Amino acid sequence: MPTSQPKTIAIVSQKGGSGKTTLAVHLATRAAQAGLESCVIDTDPQATAAAWSDWRGDFLPVVVTSPPARLGRTIESASKNGVDFIVIDTPPHADAAAREAIKAADIVLVPSKPRAFDLHALEPIADLISFAKKPAYVVLNSVPAGATVLSEDARKSAKKMGLKMCSVSLGDRAAFHRSSAKGETAAEIDPDGKAAKEIEKLWKWLNKKLA
Ligand SMILES: Nc1ncnc2c1ncn2[C@@H]1O[C@H](COP(=O)(O)OP(=O)(O)O)[C@@H](O)[C@H]1O
Ligand SMILES: [Mg+2]
Repeated sequence: MPTSQPKTIAIVSQKGGSGKTTLAVHLATRAAQAGLESCVIDTDPQATAAAWSDWRGDFLPVVVTSPPARLGRTIESASKNGVDFIVIDTPPHADAAAREAIKAADIVLVPSKPRAFDLHALEPIADLISFAKKPAYVVLNSVPAGATVLSEDARKSAKKMGLKMCSVSLGDRAAFHRSSAKGETAAEIDPDGKAAKEIEKLWKWLNKKLA
């Protein structure tokens, strides 16, 4: 019997295409590689993380689907089965799903492109997060090379909404979409590449926050 609750990370954002599923499968895979019993709970009816797992075949991490309303039960059963690291992937445009995921999480990650429209879409999430009083961080994703001003503006608008920023951001890198399309991760197709290094930094950052 496991003695402790699994560490639970919710990945939320109202925007489709912001990188929720990419982040979920990369972090859960990194956790599995670290020897954790890692699991993605995919609450998106589109089941993209689950499809990634189908393409991946019989390799870790485990990906299970769960309607948001069943999330508590799904976590309970994962925990009973020895899972100690859970990443909850969520659908876009779904307040209830985001709320359930945030409620269940130890920490919330909010991926966003560093663009005005994307940042504007963070507002409802910022409200949910402040209501739930959970530690939450915006993770800038698909940041174009050399986009210092863009990133700085993003930081400012996140701060205005009361959101904290993750100190690690992810660049716009082919290794992310090329690997995901094959059920793999960036580190698996290009271990020395920049995308792999960014995930490594994010993983270390996350572990400090969860400690
Ligand atoms: N940092 C990145 N660099 C390049 N492509 C990315 C990056 N992050 C995500 N993508 C690609 O963008 C698309 C949308 O990402 P996804 O993770 O599915 O977003 P969401 O789950 O928020 O809808 C996918 O094709 C994915 O491979
Ligand atoms: Mg998704």
